[in-house]
Amino acid sequence: MKTLATFNGQIQPLEHLKISANDRAFYFADAVYEVVRIYSGKLFLFAEHLSRLGRSLASLGIKCDLSLVEKDIMENVNANKIFDGYVYVQVSRGEAPRAHQIPKNLKPNVTIYSVEFVSDPFAPFRASGIKASLHPDWRWKRRDIKSTNLLANCIARDRAESENCQEAILYEEDDFAITECSSNNVFIVSSNTLRTPPVSNRILNGITRQCVLAIAKSLNIEAVEENFTVSELKFADEVLITGSFAEVLGVVSVAGCTIGDGSVGPVTRMISESFQDLKKASH
Ligand code: PDD
Repeated sequence: MKTLATFNGQIQPLEHLKISANDRAFYFADAVYEVVRIYSGKLFLFAEHLSRLGRSLASLGIKCDLSLVEKDIMENVNANKIFDGYVYVQVSRGEAPRAHQIPKNLKPNVTIYSVEFVSDPFAPFRASGIKASLHPDWRWKRRDIKSTNLLANCIARDRAESENCQEAILYEEDDFAITECSSNNVFIVSSNTLRTPPVSNRILNGITRQCVLAIAKSLNIEAVEENFTVSELKFADEVLITGSFAEVLGVVSVAGCTIGDGSVGPVTRMISESFQDLKKASH
């Protein structure tokens, strides 16, 4: 079946969708987005994703009726008959001739489509863990906004892949503080404590990140939201990444340094199992 897209409420095949070159997403990445996983036909942590979408829109002053977006997302997922997959939603500020001034009160363009997973893209790494590279964080200073401006993320991921790694862990060039990854958040475990950078403009506050912090609490794993540096990362007992696609994945090497004994560590495994239980309970 062809993937169906919903553009401003109208359903049509994704391959036929035409969006104006005057869409400000095209010129300026003046748009925000969300990716929501679907497990057994149900949208996972949907309210949390919608609320973050609302926050991203408000941060950029894009006015959009979220209850309509919510309805369109559900309709699109039903129309595509998704059982196990994801939905992508992008809201741009709207269309206007190219100019740096931000026009007021444009009608936003809302693009939604949903896709069934043929197979889990991370399946080969769930048990063995991934390799990560290190890359300077070249992005802008409002990474808390889930903006479609992802070029620096793509460059970092591309470099990671050319180094035979699956993800790039990013660090600030001035103080070597770790921020997050090209499309995931990052945690370390050292001295039995789980650590992840605190919520700030330096990271996207991942929905999976928040979920993992809640899981840690329920498992009585000590967890702190504190910055750590590149060297603390390399000497950690465990490193893990979280994201809507990755879910919870162990990292067994960083920039060629083996983490722990080179296998997915016990804390990561406990958290990952709890995450799988939570997924099942949400069906
Ligand atoms: N990426 N950090 C960045 C920069 C991200 O792009 C993402 C998600 C995350 C994790 O957020 P969440 O747990 O809410 O998925 C962290 C999505 C999946 C993407 O761009 O495809």
